[in-house]
Amino acid sequence: MKSMKKEVLFSKEVISGRIRSLADEISRDYAGGELIVIGVLKGAFIFMADLIRSLQIPCMVDFAQLASYGSGSVSSGNVAIKKDIGLPIAGKDVLIVEDIVDTGLTLSFLVKTLKERSPRSLKVCVFLDKKMRRKVPFTADYTGFTIDDGFVVGYGLDFNEQARFLPDVYVIKE
Ligand code: PRP
Repeated sequence: MKSMKKEVLFSKEVISGRIRSLADEISRDYAGGELIVIGVLKGAFIFMADLIRSLQIPCMVDFAQLASYGSGSVSSGNVAIKKDIGLPIAGKDVLIVEDIVDTGLTLSFLVKTLKERSPRSLKVCVFLDKKMRRKVPFTADYTGFTIDDGFVVGYGLDFNEQARFLPDVYVIKE
């Protein structure tokens, strides 16, 4: 990681401005209500922490962790729950918060799984969207930034578990 060249894609100032706008939009959409916000481990933890602190509505939080099985970075499409949420969501307004949507396999699976538990509503907020990489159709309800293909790290996103702590988002240069 130390030897890799990387350049800032989104600075922490740009990120915090975008998050304030997203939080305002979400707060308006759920005005008068209460949300259950579900973060997808591990990558979403920093985005989720910033997002919920900018919301103007109350929320409860929970976390899920998923595992996708494939060889290396190539996902086979098999996704399973590694750690389930603990809160009941039937009849509740639920917002899934994720750091990045790539092939769409992870979020398609999670949305389908949670819908079976009869929430009142279920929406998804993603920090980054690599739209061109979809293997299955998936559209987030709220998107921080749409990005091109490329390896991004920082602000929760990792490279072999490193670099999640970086306050800015970087793209790795070959
Ligand atoms: C990343 C990301 C999403 C998923 C997106 O998780 O956080 O969960 O991949 O990819 P997809 O749209 O192709 O399914 P990762 O497996 O890297 O785990 P992490 O969040 O613990 O870093």
